[in-house]
Amino acid sequence: MSSVATESRATAATPAGTCYKVLMWEEGALPPGQLEAWQKARRELLARMRDAGIKGARGTLARLGEELRELSQQAVAAPLDTCVQASLSLTRVGALAAELLRVEGLLAYRLTPCSATVLVELTGEESIDSLITRWSSATPELQWCSTPLVEALSAAEAAEWQESCRTTAGDSTDTDDDEENAPEFRHVTVLRAEAVAALQPAEGRVLVDATLGGGGHSELMLEEGATVWGIDQDPAARRAARKRLAAYADRLHIVAGNFRNAAELLTARGVTQVDGLLADIGISSPQVDQAERGFSFLAEGPLDMRMNPAAPRSAADIVNSAAESELADILWQYGEERASRAIARRIVQERAKAPITTTTQLAGIIAGVLPRKGKQHPATRSFQALRIAVNDELGALEALLETGLSLLKSGGRFAIITFHSLEDRAVKRYFDRVTRQEIDRPEWPAPRPNPEYAARLITRKPIVASEAELAANPRARSAKLRVIEKL
Ligand SMILES: C[S@@+](CC[C@H](N)C(=O)[O-])C[C@H]1O[C@@H](n2cnc3c(N)ncnc32)[C@H](O)[C@@H]1O
Repeated sequence: MSSVATESRATAATPAGTCYKVLMWEEGALPPGQLEAWQKARRELLARMRDAGIKGARGTLARLGEELRELSQQAVAAPLDTCVQASLSLTRVGALAAELLRVEGLLAYRLTPCSATVLVELTGEESIDSLITRWSSATPELQWCSTPLVEALSAAEAAEWQESCRTTAGDSTDTDDDEENAPEFRHVTVLRAEAVAALQPAEGRVLVDATLGGGGHSELMLEEGATVWGIDQDPAARRAARKRLAAYADRLHIVAGNFRNAAELLTARGVTQVDGLLADIGISSPQVDQAERGFSFLAEGPLDMRMNPAAPRSAADIVNSAAESELADILWQYGEERASRAIARRIVQERAKAPITTTTQLAGIIAGVLPRKGKQHPATRSFQALRIAVNDELGALEALLETGLSLLKSGGRFAIITFHSLEDRAVKRYFDRVTRQEIDRPEWPAPRPNPEYAARLITRKPIVASEAELAANPRARSAKLRVIEKL
């Protein structure tokens, strides 16, 4: 590579702690026309961003930044992921990998047959440009494209990407864009009208759908004219929502990530204050229904249960490596399974003979401990518990509760739909904590003002599904919607 594009970043030594994601690719991997069109559109966007920056128009700047990301994703990153024409160069790209491993601050990298994406945290000694030049001179036999894609990432985005590399390093499948081969995504939205009405969508209002899923709630918000930031950690959900809501692409911003980082994910995109935030907690129907996701004890599949397939720990990892006491605790705390100890003991005995790798294998082991009573399968509670543990669902909910209000404008609404008592208890307790004007303790002579008082309750009792909704969708039976409004 002879030179690198520097228009969007400083060339001097970059401050320590800054993370950059650099996408480099081989000359010829992208058709020249496509490359030129991207470079032109990019130059234009960068010029508009400079103008917006000079005027201090932060909203425009954030919107243009998002446009730039999407443009680069569609025009460069996605086609490179599937490009195999230069596949013989994979071994030569290996030379780059060897060089990368020497770089201080290297967080992750991902190689495809004709491209390399590198995440690096600068230590302050060397600029990103000089690093890129070093990488390219370490592989003189490769003709790298002269305009690598360089993106500065927030700490949360960097962590997210790094996590995705743990299982996708060297693998060129980023399923987010693989719409063609995606199985159909069928999820019936729960409390659709009630939840969306609580956020009062309208033109000019900015709402966050922290659990985008198939886009059922977002669709209604968009129909009412709102701008929506939709977060989901499951690429299949994002893909389905992007397809379903294509008509609203100008007002829908899809963000890959965990809602536990909602504040960082949105702030990194210039969004600091919104009019409402909805979270429809839990799993979507396709996650349960597709056997290969490993959530269901009814269908044979790998024991996986990760909503984010790039997350580090699957259900099989927990089942095969957690201590017996940890397993028992998970089953008891998250599944309220009374036979938690007996099941944990049996799991440990069985895994000593052979690893437990499939859903039906685990379901069979549990059924061997617990006789079937009534309609419920004996593995129901254990599977729920493992799913909650794998996805740290309660931890993510707690983090969202603690940060959600900070994202809201005064008068902004915070709405949460839960599906089981553990989640509902956490929401109820938190909403109660921030909506009480005063707090009292037996040892105090009189109640005192509550320092956490920041919202008013909109729903004194949770909203539940109507008879009509239950008749159409029995999965709505345990849904509870609670809403507060920031003062
Ligand atoms: C019940 S579904 C949402 C369905 C959506 N409201 C609809 O109507 O189509 C929950 C979605 O939230 C996602 N999800 C659950 N926990 C999450 C988390 N901590 N961070 C990001 N997404 C999460 C799941 O991947 C799933 O797609």
